[in-house]
Amino acid sequence: MTTATDPRVLQTLDGKPWDIDAYVRIGGYEAWTKCVNELSATDIVNELKRAGLRGRGGAGFPTGIKWEKILNHRIKEHYFVCNAGEHEPGTFKDRYMLQHAPHQLIEGCLIAAYTVQAKEAFIYLNHEYQEERESLKKALAQAKARGFLGKNAMGSGMDLDLQIFDGYGSYVAGEETAMLESIQGRPAMPRQKPPFYPTDFGLYGNPTLVNNVETLCNIPRIFQKGAAWFTQVGTEKCPGTMMFSLSGAINKPGVYERPMGTTIRELIKTCGGGVPGGRKIKAVFPGGPAFPMVTPDQLDLMMDFDSLKKAGTGLGSAGMIVVDDATCMVAKTLHFSSFFRDESCGQCPSCRMGTINLTALLTKIEQGEGTQKDMDSLLQLCGFVKGTGYCTLVTGAAVLVQSSMKLFRHEFDEHIRLQRCPYQPAAATAVAAQ
Ligand SMILES: Cc1cc2nc3c(=O)[nH]c(=O)nc-3n(C[C@H](O)[C@H](O)[C@H](O)COP(=O)(O)O)c2cc1C
Repeated sequence: MTTATDPRVLQTLDGKPWDIDAYVRIGGYEAWTKCVNELSATDIVNELKRAGLRGRGGAGFPTGIKWEKILNHRIKEHYFVCNAGEHEPGTFKDRYMLQHAPHQLIEGCLIAAYTVQAKEAFIYLNHEYQEERESLKKALAQAKARGFLGKNAMGSGMDLDLQIFDGYGSYVAGEETAMLESIQGRPAMPRQKPPFYPTDFGLYGNPTLVNNVETLCNIPRIFQKGAAWFTQVGTEKCPGTMMFSLSGAINKPGVYERPMGTTIRELIKTCGGGVPGGRKIKAVFPGGPAFPMVTPDQLDLMMDFDSLKKAGTGLGSAGMIVVDDATCMVAKTLHFSSFFRDESCGQCPSCRMGTINLTALLTKIEQGEGTQKDMDSLLQLCGFVKGTGYCTLVTGAAVLVQSSMKLFRHEFDEHIRLQRCPYQPAAATAVAAQ
């Protein structure tokens, strides 16, 4: 991991990440103390709005506005959940924060839960993150021993406990309404919308604040150093930094904190050290496989919510995947399509059948058995399923196929003309699509 010149999120600790003394030495828990002793909930929300922080879990929703909605809700029983469900291919930044900054996350959670006066507060943790769970448990015990949480935490008058909830272990479980279902003891399946947001109808039907790990890790420093400091980096509408996960055809995969608006080129070249073996870039998924790819002529695009949306794609949770020119795009598309198929919770017929059929058609083409009619069926199916379902999983699966067929149609055509994958030796056309 390389940090930004002036990081907003990740701070270097002189000690173990879960060691509270190391965190306190760099000003840890100062923000929490300040919030309890000096600021009202409205002051906290206003400062957050001034900072312009936007959610880092994918949608980029303004955090201050979300907190305000709960604070002002006519129903007064509120809940708070930190979303640490992280399960998307190519995104591993929340895991990095859990490993390296558990106290910072705890402090962010405490400020959030306190501001919205949460009756109960949870960290919904990816079920595979067992090491992170242990270090989080140690950090929580230390913070409790210091009185930062627990009964009448910091003299706040609130009994504030953060419960680690072992996640359901699926991609869909990270979708906020599925996550809430899971906490309520039901299968992690997204809820029917409307109501659209947990701010209105969340845990047990009550207003619930859901924020991503990285979003929450931004909170302590905003209150320690002020909104004006926070907005000094990033773009006007997307201030601060982002933890970019870099993977795929890259020399130095990893998590890099860089200002919002950093170009794709800089991330690949300066942070990631370019593409291995001097190969050329064929495509980049700037925001994971559920958003359209960009091509090498678009490397100067800025990585922030608005710039990427304007360019017809999206930042998502900034899981950037680089694809080099030795890669078969049909195989790559099939790989991610299989992920969507396997991760569909099966609740919505369009998603269950759509992801199965998209993957089956792609498999046929990749294995050299496809026809032009299959290509038409693929595009038709994308049109049918896009925008359906209680969550965006099937839309992501359709966007992936549409983007690949739009940009790399010639590769699909070549599979059909040759009746094999051009990237495989002629004899080895059988490709497993597990
Ligand atoms: C299929 C799916 C999976 C998601 N997975 C995650 C996840 O693992 N972590 C996360 O924070 N948000 C995830 N989200 C977004 C959440 O629903 C929600 O928008 C987010 O947690 C809100 O936090 P933020 O405002 O801090 O970004 C997912 C959304 C969808 C549709």
